Amino acid sequence: MSEKRERIAELKKERDAVILAHYYVPDEVQEIADYVGDSFYLSRIATQIPQRTICFAGVKFMGESAKILNPGKTVLLPEPMADCPMAHMADPDKIREIRNTYRDVAVVCYINSTAELKQHADVCVTSSNALKIVSALPNKNIYFIPDENLGRYVASQLPDKHFIFNDGFCHVHTSITRENVKAALAARPGLKVLVHPECKSGVLELADYIGSTSGIIDYATASDADEFLICTELGVLYELRQKNPDKKFYSVGHRQFCPNMKKITLEKIISSLESMSPTVEITEEERQKACAPLTRMLELAR
Ligand code: 13P
Ligand code: SF4
Repeated sequence: MSEKRERIAELKKERDAVILAHYYVPDEVQEIADYVGDSFYLSRIATQIPQRTICFAGVKFMGESAKILNPGKTVLLPEPMADCPMAHMADPDKIREIRNTYRDVAVVCYINSTAELKQHADVCVTSSNALKIVSALPNKNIYFIPDENLGRYVASQLPDKHFIFNDGFCHVHTSITRENVKAALAARPGLKVLVHPECKSGVLELADYIGSTSGIIDYATASDADEFLICTELGVLYELRQKNPDKKFYSVGHRQFCPNMKKITLEKIISSLESMSPTVEITEEERQKACAPLTRMLELAR
């Protein structure tokens, strides 16, 4: 392990590289990363770092967003097959149809989406800024893609807007059921229930707190409570336990595991830094189109 860490440190210097990691990647990858965070933090920090190479320990849409925002940098994806299925779950033809039906519509695209889908959007959001951004939009009609659950959560908080939903979903978060949460609460009454908004509404209704991965970590860290039920991917446990060694965290189901995030390994990081591949590539025309909604997100989220 320490040999691998040393090799990564050497390569980072040689390649002028920085490692960004999402909270869902394996613990040992979070441990060696320079910056670990939720999707919003990672997209913002990618625009602020001086290094010429970004090695992205996360799924493909995260690396793509870093490249879209930083065309002059080399963005490495240690495992290009680590893709988020939900990122593909919207249809450009349907977006065109909605635009023709609702002339004033804003197409709001969750950052968990392909670069292709972003090209059709007016603004991007993440789970930590969706409420702020959608409420700041002048448009009454909102077409929220690709995640239906996050879209329905945002809609429930903004009753003055009219939402059109899409049927995308995250298989990890939708595997968590209301019955799972109730059973956990029956076994350990008093647990604080911390829920990611990609979960279904029946789970959100039982939450003490709803928010992004960073939001969940911050809430648990600031809380006076000692025991928490974690309703998101279990990679967050690493940071939760680092920051709160005396608190107890319980998982709610048996499938809170994102197989794509877990494809990122130290070996793959070493190999990508050695070979400086695979890189994220996107044509300049496509990049500019996908960059507009991401830049608008960064501006509106300030
Ligand atoms: P956040 O870290 O922004 O909450 O996103 C969760 C997620 O599913 C990323 O794939
Ligand atoms: Fe995609 Fe869900 Fe995995 Fe996040 S946890 S990368 S939304 S499949």
